[in-house]
Amino acid sequence: MSQPSPAPQWFDLPHAPAAGTVVAQRDALADVCATMVTLNTTEDNVFRLLLVRAGPDVHAFVNRCPHFGVPLASRQDHLLQKPGISISCNVHYARFRWSDGLCESGECKGESLISVPLEVQPDGRVCIARDPIERQ
Ligand code: FES
Repeated sequence: MSQPSPAPQWFDLPHAPAAGTVVAQRDALADVCATMVTLNTTEDNVFRLLLVRAGPDVHAFVNRCPHFGVPLASRQDHLLQKPGISISCNVHYARFRWSDGLCESGECKGESLISVPLEVQPDGRVCIARDPIERQ
């Protein structure tokens, strides 16, 4: 029996933004809330993120359910979340841990949302982190 293939890294996905790309202003993100952000918005060049803010900290996941590879939600007002606890996919309701994106229940239990490293600049700009290791 073959092993499942490892989850892709965010930078291997189509239309992944470059390191340093500004994704939001921290103060524009509601506190203790997951906010959907779409980058590169042209019809066929889209990269979707979920930005999760808790006070000064912001982290990101690709808005892509590991079950079918579709967005957890297509609109912010459809995003199912228990702030500070979990985010759920609104297709088959897999529930992901707020802190690290691990699926705790549902069709993809044990898999995770794909994390995207961020840096918050002193002026509040939230950017894709510059990778300390050169990507191949
Ligand atoms: S597509 Fe997300 S739980 Fe099935």
